[in-house]
Amino acid sequence: MAPLLFLFFLQFLLLLSSPSTQAQNISLGTSLTTQELNNAWLSPSGEFAFGFRPIEGNSSFYLLAVWFNKISDKTVTWYTKSSEQDPEPIKVPSGSSLQFTSTGVLSLRDPTNREVCNPGAAGAPDASMLDTGNFVIAAAGGSTVSWETFSYPTNTILVTQVLSPGKVLRSRLLTTDYSNGRFLLNIETQRAALYTIAVPSGNLYDSYWSTPSDENATNQVTDLVFNMAGRIYISMSNGTQINMTFGVTSSMENYYHRATLDPDGVFRQYVYPKKPGGISQAWTVVSTKPENICNAQTKVGSGTCGFNSYCMFDGNSNQTSCGCPDQYSFFDKERKYRGCKPDFELQGCELDEGAAMAQYEFNLINNVDWPQADYEWYTPIAMDECRRLCLIDCFCAVAVFHENTCWKKKLPLSNGIMSSGVQRTVLIKVPKSNNSQPELRETRKWKSDKKHWILGSSLLLGGSVVVNFVLISVLLFGTYCTITRKEVQQLQPSRDPGLPLKAFTYAELEKATDGFKEKIDKIQHETEKEFAVEVQTIGRTYHKNLVRMLGYCNEGTQRLLVYEFMINGSLNRFLFGDARPQWSLRAQLDLGVARGLLYLHEECSTQIIHCDIKPQNILLDDNCIAKISDFGLAKLLRTNQTQTYTGIRGTRGYVAPEWFKNIGITAKVDVYNFGVILLELICCRQNVLLEAPEEEQSILTYWANDCYRCGRVDLLIDGDDEANLKMKKVERFVAVALWCLQEDPTMRPSMLKVTQMLDGAIAIPTPPDSSSVIYSLS
Ligand SMILES: *[C@@H]1O[C@H](CO)[C@@H](O)[C@H](O)[C@H]1NC(C)=O
Ligand SMILES: *[C@@H]1O[C@H](CO)[C@@H](O)[C@H](O)[C@H]1NC(C)=O
Ligand SMILES: *[C@@H]1O[C@H](CO)[C@@H](O)[C@H](O)[C@H]1NC(C)=O
Ligand SMILES: *[C@@H]1O[C@H](CO)[C@@H](O)[C@H](O)[C@H]1NC(C)=O
Ligand SMILES: *[C@@H]1O[C@H](CO)[C@@H](O)[C@H](O)[C@H]1NC(C)=O
Ligand SMILES: *[C@@H]1O[C@H](CO)[C@@H](O)[C@H](O)[C@H]1NC(C)=O
Ligand SMILES: *[C@@H]1O[C@H](CO)[C@@H](O)[C@H](O)[C@H]1NC(C)=O
Ligand SMILES: *[C@@H]1O[C@H](CO)[C@@H](O)[C@H](O)[C@H]1NC(C)=O
Ligand SMILES: *[C@@H]1O[C@H](CO)[C@@H](O)[C@H](O)[C@H]1NC(C)=O
Repeated sequence: MAPLLFLFFLQFLLLLSSPSTQAQNISLGTSLTTQELNNAWLSPSGEFAFGFRPIEGNSSFYLLAVWFNKISDKTVTWYTKSSEQDPEPIKVPSGSSLQFTSTGVLSLRDPTNREVCNPGAAGAPDASMLDTGNFVIAAAGGSTVSWETFSYPTNTILVTQVLSPGKVLRSRLLTTDYSNGRFLLNIETQRAALYTIAVPSGNLYDSYWSTPSDENATNQVTDLVFNMAGRIYISMSNGTQINMTFGVTSSMENYYHRATLDPDGVFRQYVYPKKPGGISQAWTVVSTKPENICNAQTKVGSGTCGFNSYCMFDGNSNQTSCGCPDQYSFFDKERKYRGCKPDFELQGCELDEGAAMAQYEFNLINNVDWPQADYEWYTPIAMDECRRLCLIDCFCAVAVFHENTCWKKKLPLSNGIMSSGVQRTVLIKVPKSNNSQPELRETRKWKSDKKHWILGSSLLLGGSVVVNFVLISVLLFGTYCTITRKEVQQLQPSRDPGLPLKAFTYAELEKATDGFKEKIDKIQHETEKEFAVEVQTIGRTYHKNLVRMLGYCNEGTQRLLVYEFMINGSLNRFLFGDARPQWSLRAQLDLGVARGLLYLHEECSTQIIHCDIKPQNILLDDNCIAKISDFGLAKLLRTNQTQTYTGIRGTRGYVAPEWFKNIGITAKVDVYNFGVILLELICCRQNVLLEAPEEEQSILTYWANDCYRCGRVDLLIDGDDEANLKMKKVERFVAVALWCLQEDPTMRPSMLKVTQMLDGAIAIPTPPDSSSVIYSLS
């Protein structure tokens, strides 16, 4: 009995699996079930299948679908919907079946054999899954087709598919969620266009991309075609073709092709290599419409990332990602398109200015904008005023500032974009952190980077006292002590609600630093209030190219500042040490210093003039990022106080000429200092070198000017092969330096101009030769 039973079983298996291995022409009376052995009809090549696919994450339910059968992830190209408007595809439970009845009707039935739906064709002689990915039901009595999946596209089209006006592609909600998504490709009589859809009603918002349409109504769209060359185009009634994509070099024999309206609203054309052969087995994007979805702005609707978020497009991977601003978070991390919500409540229409100031502050971000959400804008206006106007306006959630223009934005923010091309400074209104919050932030910092901290002296914070530069250098080099990580964590802040930074007691710092190994002089130049304002302003600065202030101590006459510790020391040591650092790294450091200064001058709420930019004050972190430190001499300028005179500050060799004249001091002193540093970085030598080989080389700023005027910039980088290969860039940098070193402060460029010139974004005119003036001074 046993062998017989076995044979019977084998036969049964063959019977069951036979349809899915060879079916080309599906004959009447055949059926499929959700069971794996008999769940699909294949095309002759076996590349496409039509049948039941389990739903990801809900595997007791199935879609009736068409998919790429030889690809490991079985990419679905079509699935059953009862109508285009139906928000969900048809899902059937395990045990359902698909029957091609003896009367030629294709019928989808639930486990109780009740019909769920049928495509409406009756009396069909046969049906087949074609190698193009089209499933067709033949028409009664002829060679024509009565129903085919190619006529009811979902989110994907395949090679040889043709769509006539009136047809649409609808995105899915997510790759794993087949519900109707938020985007539509509409084939219209005049053009093909991509739209955002209002969910749930389904009306269309603005189109965010379209083929050009002709006003001439006699010239109409006849079809959208995906041809055998992999080109997708619109054919017009006058015979021309408007390309949506330009065809692919990847052949039809060796690659699978598809074009899909993806859940992020991007229409992407993909290819997939049929054989491994060393190429990665994955779908690769060959074309996208629109090119960058983040730029696809619509007046109504949120944009691809949802409200209050911002969209980032990576042109290398062709992928879109979404982000929330600080103190905002995603409604649903799995479904980021739902956008972000603030982690706080914006309120306070009843607050007066003082109270609003006590309650709110701003987070600053760059390269982000929400172009559609403004309700008021002002120009010309200063950044400080922009910030103030948003602060006291309870509607205002975000202020965007750019070149004297201020836009006020309210919630919800829409169509957010983050990109290096977006030149905006964005201030996001958030509740003011209590004393406890900066503490939290610092705690996180301690955990993430095992760095030591530096304790600097605040005695140098710019008061209104004349300080000469001999005293300065003594203080600058004599007062650093390090505190270890462990010791700092033991420190408890004292109560001081007026300041957001961590407040240490003197005793704590004394203990942590082993009794201040280096003696700090007791000099007090500032009133309590001045100290508070300056600590707060500098403490709030946050930029990649600035050393971060972490806390302070303000006890009686003791005023101390605690800074991040920079492990790689100062630019001074790095640049003038034994080994000459590479040119590319030096150029990168130049840009870093320039950006840090740009931030201090133009992007802080209160302009900060550093007054003592020199290599000793530029520190390097472990990634060799330049960070400006020691704001000891910094001068904060209130909005209406752009010039100030307080006596000479600075260090020999770096002092701008106006310090010696009785004229106002502006941010241009830092620009001058930057010019000196720029030359030092180019040439890897100090500005003043008394033992220089030739006398005319002893002052770098003069020598560089001479070399530039004689067209011999190469002399400055003698023996530096790497820099010699980049001569054009070196010349550009030298020209920028000579502009920064102009005798007349008003002739010097702003730091914004400087960064643009260094980046090569704007042309550099020949700097005027002020050497005659320089020599008459010396
Ligand atoms: C099915 O097979 C018949 C005969 O074998 C053939 O005439 C018909 O064209 C086939 N139908 C399809 C759709 O391939
Ligand atoms: C699976 O899908 C069915 C049909 O849509 C639905 O009723 C059920 O709740 C889903 N189950 C899960 C776990 O998502
Ligand atoms: C046909 O129409 C297209 C687009 O409307 C236009 O650019 C083209 O010049 C027309 N060609 C002819 C032959 O009329
Ligand atoms: C409109 O289309 C017709 C037919 O293609 C053509 O003869 C005519 O010049 C077109 N007019 C314009 C304004 O393009
Ligand atoms: C469309 O693309 C094809 C193939 O790349 C090209 O030959 C044709 O000139 C293009 N047509 C237009 C109008 O750009
Ligand atoms: C991204 O798309 C471009 C064409 O738009 C294509 O050349 C490039 O290969 C794509 N990159 C990836 C990783 O798919
Ligand atoms: C900040 O302080 C205010 C008033 O003291 C208090 O109501 C609020 O809960 C505090 N917030 C946090 C995050 O501690
Ligand atoms: C910077 O510090 C890191 C870590 O100590 C070290 O590996 C690296 O060589 C240093 N770089 C320079 C340029 O000093
Ligand atoms: C700004 O300064 C000018 C000139 O010194 C003065 O007339 C004006 O009143 C000041 N404005 C404010 C707001 O202080």
